[in-house]
Amino acid sequence: MSKSYAITSFGCQMNVYDAERMAEILEADGWQAVADAESADLVVLNTCHIREKAAEKVYSELGRLRALDRDQGRRRQVAVTGCVAQAEGEEIPRRAPNVDLVIGPQAYHRLPELLGAAAHRAGSGHAVATEFAAEAKFGSARVARGAGATGTAFLTVQEGCDKFCSFCVVPYTRGAEYSRPAADILAEARRLVAAGALELTLLGQNVNAYHGAAPDGGEWSLARLLAALAELPGLERLRYTTSHPLEVTPDLVAAHRDLPQLMPYLHLPVQSGSDAVLQAMNRRHRADDYLRLVADLRAARPDLAMSGDFIVGFPGESDADFAATLDLVRAVGYAQAYSFKYSPRPGTPAAEREDAVPEPVKAERLAALQALLQEQQRRFNEASVGRVLPVLLERPGRRPGQRAGRTPQMQAIHVDAAQDLPPGPVISRVRITAAHANSVSGMPVDAAAAA
Ligand code: 5AD
Ligand code: SF4
Repeated sequence: MSKSYAITSFGCQMNVYDAERMAEILEADGWQAVADAESADLVVLNTCHIREKAAEKVYSELGRLRALDRDQGRRRQVAVTGCVAQAEGEEIPRRAPNVDLVIGPQAYHRLPELLGAAAHRAGSGHAVATEFAAEAKFGSARVARGAGATGTAFLTVQEGCDKFCSFCVVPYTRGAEYSRPAADILAEARRLVAAGALELTLLGQNVNAYHGAAPDGGEWSLARLLAALAELPGLERLRYTTSHPLEVTPDLVAAHRDLPQLMPYLHLPVQSGSDAVLQAMNRRHRADDYLRLVADLRAARPDLAMSGDFIVGFPGESDADFAATLDLVRAVGYAQAYSFKYSPRPGTPAAEREDAVPEPVKAERLAALQALLQEQQRRFNEASVGRVLPVLLERPGRRPGQRAGRTPQMQAIHVDAAQDLPPGPVISRVRITAAHANSVSGMPVDAAAAA
């Protein structure tokens, strides 16, 4: 009997990583991947709950799958995973009876067992697993797959969050902070490098709060872990995401100075430039503290490109508060950034507030902020024209002879006339020839010299 599966993943990079690990678990259990839900016996919806309408999107996708079952005269298995699974729990099968499994982010290791039990029930009844397990959810049996194809891979080092920003569901959906032991991470990194990874991005909801068990007893900080990873032969590039300003420690700043493998790009969300809003958000620092950190980081690594997250229209945000956000953005100068309208998340303290900012004001502020951020991104890209940078070429481009990848500063890049470069993922010297809104173009330096 065929056992095919399709996973659709929404949201953050950790979901992408989790989806890859679930795929490995399923394949070890005899399942075969297919590209789309239409032909799959098992559909996994790996969901995100961070912003508005996430749950509604999941329910409408579940409705679509139900209609598909009806049209095809069959009953496929459906699993809902990720943060909506954690947040909604039993509510999901109540509203969508075609759901067999609801599995929260800390219970994925139970996937084969739960699927087996679901097969016995033969389409009647469902299981909900949303406990926060004490053990690491993927155990130590992770396998390195796919890293060789693009030369870059994610590696989860930390999960969960104890910060409780007043707008955020993560501490509820992903649970308390947990750091994987350094030895497990080093072993996974070695496997990924052996499989062809040239670059690793360390993942965690609060990655710079990392404090994992050291191989020799005691604890390692993120900076110490990065230093150990930098010594792995063949590992050329390191990145980490996402960070909280409170946890940018002096040793982490120094790592940006001392580790050439640590790429000059940092995603450091600040959310707002207003001290009053920062306090109401429970961010536990002021705008000035953030600006000082950015200055320290740039002193350590002058070519550091900054990225961030912003929320506009947090309850009570005044025009002056929003102006302070624009001021902060001007002071920092971002290479890229993400910005969102505040949306109340059920169960979070900010959702209880009654001084909501009207929707049209939110929309206006978002447009103004995004215009400024886009202008900064365009200027950042323009400033790189003429430079020669080592680019990780991850995959073929859209046109013949073209390759696509990332600059050290995380700019998306298309490289033309790249047909003579070594095949496969490779780090190549590229001259930046043109800037665009969200990317740059380039030409290989070495091939051009040879021509
Ligand atoms: N409303 C809007 N944006 C949010 N984010 C998190 N929670 C909310 C919310 N309730 C944004 C923050 C965070 C990013 C991952 O999502 O900017 O850094
Ligand atoms: Fe959410 Fe704040 Fe934790 Fe980030 S630090 S995951 S925004 S609670």
